[in-house]
Amino acid sequence: MQTKMMEVNEERSYEIAADYLNNGEVVAFPTETVYGLGAVATNQGAVTKIFEAKGRPSDNPLIVHIGSKEEVEKYAVEVPAHAKVLMEHFWPGPLTLIMKVKPGVLAENVTAGLDTVGIRMPDHPVALKLLQTVKQPVAAPSANRSGKPSPTEAEHVYHDLEGKIPLILNGGATGIGVESTVLDVTTATPVILRPGGVTKEMLEEIIGPVEDSIPFGVGEKEAPRAPGMKYQHYAPDSPVYLIEQNYENIEQAISELHNDGKKVAFIGPDAFLDTGADWFFSTGSLEDLSEFTKSLYAALRACDDTEADVILATATKREGVGAAIMNRLEKAADRKWYKLAEE
Ligand code: TXA
Ligand code: MG
Repeated sequence: MQTKMMEVNEERSYEIAADYLNNGEVVAFPTETVYGLGAVATNQGAVTKIFEAKGRPSDNPLIVHIGSKEEVEKYAVEVPAHAKVLMEHFWPGPLTLIMKVKPGVLAENVTAGLDTVGIRMPDHPVALKLLQTVKQPVAAPSANRSGKPSPTEAEHVYHDLEGKIPLILNGGATGIGVESTVLDVTTATPVILRPGGVTKEMLEEIIGPVEDSIPFGVGEKEAPRAPGMKYQHYAPDSPVYLIEQNYENIEQAISELHNDGKKVAFIGPDAFLDTGADWFFSTGSLEDLSEFTKSLYAALRACDDTEADVILATATKREGVGAAIMNRLEKAADRKWYKLAEE
């Protein structure tokens, strides 16, 4: 299959993309978080193509994207009161709400057999216009091969899925750079299943206390509440180690690795540019975590194009969007921290 990359500078692009979707094909498109790989969510055969193209385990459910808030009623049995408030505040935006699914409307493989469905209205002009042209709910996971970092540029999608999907809508780099917050609103106190663009602090300001789930290293017998959390994600080819944002320690770590004959790629703020790494991938200024989220996945991917034996990535604080960054970094690093030889 030939994969076309299409710019979205004209009306016609949306009609072409909508035709593919309405004919049971998959299409990659930008959202404000990451690129998604979409299929019409009521078409089981089309949704199967998503799982095949990504190499995604079939027990991992997909998020349903809608083009207007009202549509949520079509797919959720009940929209809890706090969910309505959250939709008013954060939709369109990077917040996925997990609700009880209305039986018999969506294709069964969208929800992977669960009795709940994740729904969000994305805040990106291309995604919204596409949804409004298709006039159907669109199931879309991130448009990467399973196990790779989510794509924040159309070229990342092409790299991962070339030959496996017919069309990529190119809307440039995405804005936020990490995926949406997944919030289970089926319980009295909502639970964050995946931290993302809408932070815990932002949620609590609107609806009061929300809980964190324990997303990493879930025991084998304990079923994770967001099935996707049990898979190791976002892993570059070489091992990643976390390291504190401490100039001297970073310098020492890199020199130790060099003495060991290892080449080092580094992911972190500009402030650490001169610590001696063989490849440096900037996450922007020390203070601005939104620059970190924006650049993180491209940096992880760029590491795969180097000959680095080891990747060092700086940890951030865990407040605000730092929770989402650390969640992704801990997965990429398999929670390994670099240990200095002498401290
Ligand atoms: O920002 C995003 O959310 C992007 C863009 C494309 O919208 N999508 C995305 O989808 O990240 P995906 O499939 O890569 O991640 C969806 C996560 C997975 O961890 C999945 O297990 C969880 O949401 N999820 C989906 N439906 C669920 C459900 N009914 N119950 C619990 N978790 C669910
Ligand atoms: Mg994903």
